[in-house]
Amino acid sequence: MIPFVDLRAAHAEVADDVLQGFDRVMRDAAFVGGPDVAAFEEEFAAFSGMPHCVGLGNGTDAVEFALRACGLPAGAGVVLPANTFVATAEAVLRAGLRPVLADCDDDFLLLDPESAASAAGPDVAAILPVHLYGQQAPMAAVHEIAARRGLAVVEDGAQSQGSAQEGRPPAELVATSFYPGKNLGAYGEAGAVLTSSPETARAVRLLSSHGSLERYRHETLGFNSRLDTLQAVVLRAKLRRLAAWNEARRAAADRYDKLLSGVEGVRLPRTAPGNLHVWHLYVIRVPERDRVLAGLHAAGVQAQIHYPVPVHLQPAFRRLGYGPGDFPVAEKAAGQILSLPMHPHLTEAQQERVAEVLREVLSGL
Ligand SMILES: Cc1ncc(COP(=O)(O)O)c(C=O)c1O
Repeated sequence: MIPFVDLRAAHAEVADDVLQGFDRVMRDAAFVGGPDVAAFEEEFAAFSGMPHCVGLGNGTDAVEFALRACGLPAGAGVVLPANTFVATAEAVLRAGLRPVLADCDDDFLLLDPESAASAAGPDVAAILPVHLYGQQAPMAAVHEIAARRGLAVVEDGAQSQGSAQEGRPPAELVATSFYPGKNLGAYGEAGAVLTSSPETARAVRLLSSHGSLERYRHETLGFNSRLDTLQAVVLRAKLRRLAAWNEARRAAADRYDKLLSGVEGVRLPRTAPGNLHVWHLYVIRVPERDRVLAGLHAAGVQAQIHYPVPVHLQPAFRRLGYGPGDFPVAEKAAGQILSLPMHPHLTEAQQERVAEVLREVLSGL
């Protein structure tokens, strides 16, 4: 069997640090907050080149709190891509705002600036690009739209820890997720907001902790969504390896490119010019995707689909009033995309086997 991700191999690399850290936390019996959370926030902010990081309970809360911290008018529109994990849209609704969807481009499957610009009507107050699969959305174009229309920019960086983009405007507000399978993954739920603004960092921290920074003094209504101390220990240990792990993902993506180039029917993923990709997912496009996926699974290759149904066609989002045909690029891609096993510990032999099985399955269609 070739697993989609290998969290056991990642754990083996960090086990000593993690277990020592757990021991420390348990000896101190300090399970919420404490020095490991503060240290992780500082270390992850430094890694990301952002002045402030606030650790949270998960990435969906991170998107929601980032939006809430912008202080947008209730019910205002937020432009986001139809091709994303539903949590991006869910967070917009939970923040009391209205998801306004845009299509993706056909080359990279990222937010299409033209579609985003035409979606940004008068009641739209923010734009929420998603750095899908490990590379950044076209941020110069996003900022250009935002400046023209006076929109706040919140980035969904759940899949892009360690990515970069040449010449992009500096990031102001980024939400991220440390769900276990992410490039930087916890041993449970965790997330964070990164920001350039101390006021925004303070607002997010208030939201995360019952509206309170000082015991029993509650400035605003908030939630309970803090980064667990044990997760901070795991994240600190893994953060030290993240640059090397992202490098290993890039090497694995290069190997797939070579193994699969010229395979009839396979469309390979591409990196947009200027992007440093961190390959959270390696997403190819194939004809008769569901049959191909079944063939891979039958041969023990654990491929997946990210995501089989675009946001606007999910039953939960019917209320937005979109229907089939509204976002043709996202809809077409949803029927073709296939995520191959991708993680830092993937071996050359495993990749050769994936390519071999894929070739066989495609030739038997
Ligand atoms: C693009 C995107 N946004 C948001 C999220 C939500 O993160 P979480 O699962 O930590 O709530 C995820 C991951 O699950 C994601 O992939």
